[in-house]
Amino acid sequence: MIVIDGRKVAEDLKNELKTGIEQYRRSIGKVPGLSIIIVGEDPASQVYVRNKAKTCKELGIFCRIIELPPETSQEALLGTIAAENLDPDIHGILVQQPLPPHIDEFAATIAINPSKDVDGFHPENLGRLVMGHLDSCFVSCTPFGILELLERHRIRTSGMHCVVVGRSNIVGKPVANLMLQKHGAANCTVTVCHSATEDLTFFTRHADILIVAVGKPGFITADMVKKGAVVIDVGNTRIEDPSAKSGYRFAGDVDYGSVSAVASALTPVPGGVGPMTIAMLLKNTVLSFKRVNRL
Ligand code: GUN
Repeated sequence: MIVIDGRKVAEDLKNELKTGIEQYRRSIGKVPGLSIIIVGEDPASQVYVRNKAKTCKELGIFCRIIELPPETSQEALLGTIAAENLDPDIHGILVQQPLPPHIDEFAATIAINPSKDVDGFHPENLGRLVMGHLDSCFVSCTPFGILELLERHRIRTSGMHCVVVGRSNIVGKPVANLMLQKHGAANCTVTVCHSATEDLTFFTRHADILIVAVGKPGFITADMVKKGAVVIDVGNTRIEDPSAKSGYRFAGDVDYGSVSAVASALTPVPGGVGPMTIAMLLKNTVLSFKRVNRL
């Protein structure tokens, strides 16, 4: 069985981006800029934002973190986004989710200029993805990272049956549409399953490529997987673990121990899809910078 090493692929990708960014700095005296807006004090979000900022620094990307207090009004947040939309030094804008309950996440998503929406959450970008205009949109980072993992591991996708479990706007819906595209690393027959699917095992057992994004630790067991399937685990749930130094660990949606005996390739948690998400965010930021500067 192949363990799909997201850490290694993410490192390779970041090194490639770093080399490019250094060249842009030397040739045109400019670097890509990413603005990260965080509202409130959600501890998990703060860890994500810190990691994104640290990685920007490593790569030579300018990173502006805008921390707003939890009571920030929706109008004030939309005003902050509008200012970042106009800043020529900023090529990517990310509003960290979840937002406090009094703020409408969709209103924040559509306030971002689609040409700076490096998360790929804006309907303009999602619409272009659905219509197959991949060259003129931003593909959301986790689906884009999954495609990159499949491509770099030379996993055959064309004509294969890809089953996606989960229908979120961030992962399930975009990844299902991406795998459907007539594109080298996709071109699958796609089935999408969700919480109301009857006889889920029937569908998952027919998957050549199984992508799981439900946020339920150990949800997919070996009996649900076809022999030789490629299994992509997007789950990353923080669970208590007294044996860990920190008192917790991250668990995937796939029961790694049993499924590794059946699958031909599998992403571990941690170290599979997770590291790819930040790498693809920065890839999108560089892509935005290149589009603006016609590079
Ligand atoms: N919260 C968890 N993951 C993400 C992400 O990829 N983008 C944003 N904006 N918020 C998140």
